[in-house]
Amino acid sequence: MCETMAQTYDVVIVGAGAAGLMCAAAAGYRGRRVLIIEHAAKPGKKILMSGGGRCNFTNLNSTPANFLSDNPHFCISALKRYTPQDFLDLVERHGIEHEEKAEGQLFCRHSARDLLDMLLTECDWAGAELRLKTSVESVRQTAGGYHLKTSGGAIECEALVVATGGLSIPTMGATGFGYDLARQFGLSVLPTRAGLVPFTLHAELKQQLAPLAGISCPVDVHCNGEHFLEPMLVTHRGLSGPAMLQISSLWQPGDVLSIDLLPGHDPLAELQTLKQQQPSLSLERYLSRILPKRFAQSFAIMHGWQGPLQEYRSNDLESAAETLSHWTLQPAGTEGYRTAEVTLGGVDTRQFSSRTMAARDVPGLYFIGEVVDVTGHLGGHNFQWAWASAVAAGNIA
Ligand code: FDA
Repeated sequence: MCETMAQTYDVVIVGAGAAGLMCAAAAGYRGRRVLIIEHAAKPGKKILMSGGGRCNFTNLNSTPANFLSDNPHFCISALKRYTPQDFLDLVERHGIEHEEKAEGQLFCRHSARDLLDMLLTECDWAGAELRLKTSVESVRQTAGGYHLKTSGGAIECEALVVATGGLSIPTMGATGFGYDLARQFGLSVLPTRAGLVPFTLHAELKQQLAPLAGISCPVDVHCNGEHFLEPMLVTHRGLSGPAMLQISSLWQPGDVLSIDLLPGHDPLAELQTLKQQQPSLSLERYLSRILPKRFAQSFAIMHGWQGPLQEYRSNDLESAAETLSHWTLQPAGTEGYRTAEVTLGGVDTRQFSSRTMAARDVPGLYFIGEVVDVTGHLGGHNFQWAWASAVAAGNIA
């Protein structure tokens, strides 16, 4: 198609995920002619699979401290101007039933489908057009904005918003398009890695823990100056559950995790008292009062803790207590992008206005959502970033 026949829009958004759809509605309501381009056959696939199919769509306690970034202050402005309560108001205007599962974590009561339908309705009411199964073949700057060559023909627009997400779950349509486009326009991209992802273990520990797959217990896991007090889940491949997913975003290959298996307990004091009061009690029995029985048994066997407490010398008790409060292990790695909920790193936010998400040196180019170097903790923070950054751009693009 020759350039003169290009279709024209005010705003083109690439990616019909959480951020792209939200941005389209905001820009459409301002009277902008908006087109969303999505290469998959359906929009919002990650929304549908999120939160176990019920989408943890925000967190009422979300603050900038819940986000990781090389430029930690960047997220403050957008998060302040579009809050979890703002999104909750929208959800309630659409009559979507929701519930608070853990503290502050809001989920759809029935299905994530309700939330996706809400976004699509908003886009419809705002007059935004959605084009599926369409890929962007090339992008170049023009005097008035951008010229896109797509599988569905040429498109001209004033503002181009990149909302293509991160690299996690490639089977759901994730691509590196956003990073490549950033580089094309001279923007730097920070190294990316999988976040909120289960750990894999070295063969010996994997084998020792494998029979415990499915067992979960609350732990306090520490790594690189951060810690999370949440459940840990043993899986056939390694360790998962909220505690491990959270700390995986702080973990770098080679790092050691320190896990307090008895948070809220003082094992040394408790063991010393028990040795006096119930000398025939075994360490395993003590552990099974706090931990799931099978986990307690295996952990005791793994560490050679046999016999009654009366046979333990002071330094044996000290060493056992130390192991229980600071169980150190070095994961072999993570399951990677295949199962990661998010991608850490991405387009460097230092190149953008924190109020508008616009690239400072590339007029009319915006990056929103997960493609930029802002990554939330587990618990609804990542969607809150998608909504907030989308509204910041949609109100101006
Ligand atoms: P998102 O990935 O949602 O959308 C990007 C879109 O761009 C996709 O539709 C993709 O197909 C499209 N695209 C990519 N490349 C393209 C190209 N070249 N051309 C055209 N289109 C292209 N977060 C949270 O807060 N609460 C939760 O409960 C969960 N749960 C959860 C579970 C699982 C299994 C995963 C994988 C992730 C979560 N998350 C989450 C994270 C959350 O899903 C994520 O942070 C947001 O979806 C990011 O929104 P974006 O719109 O930025 O990207």
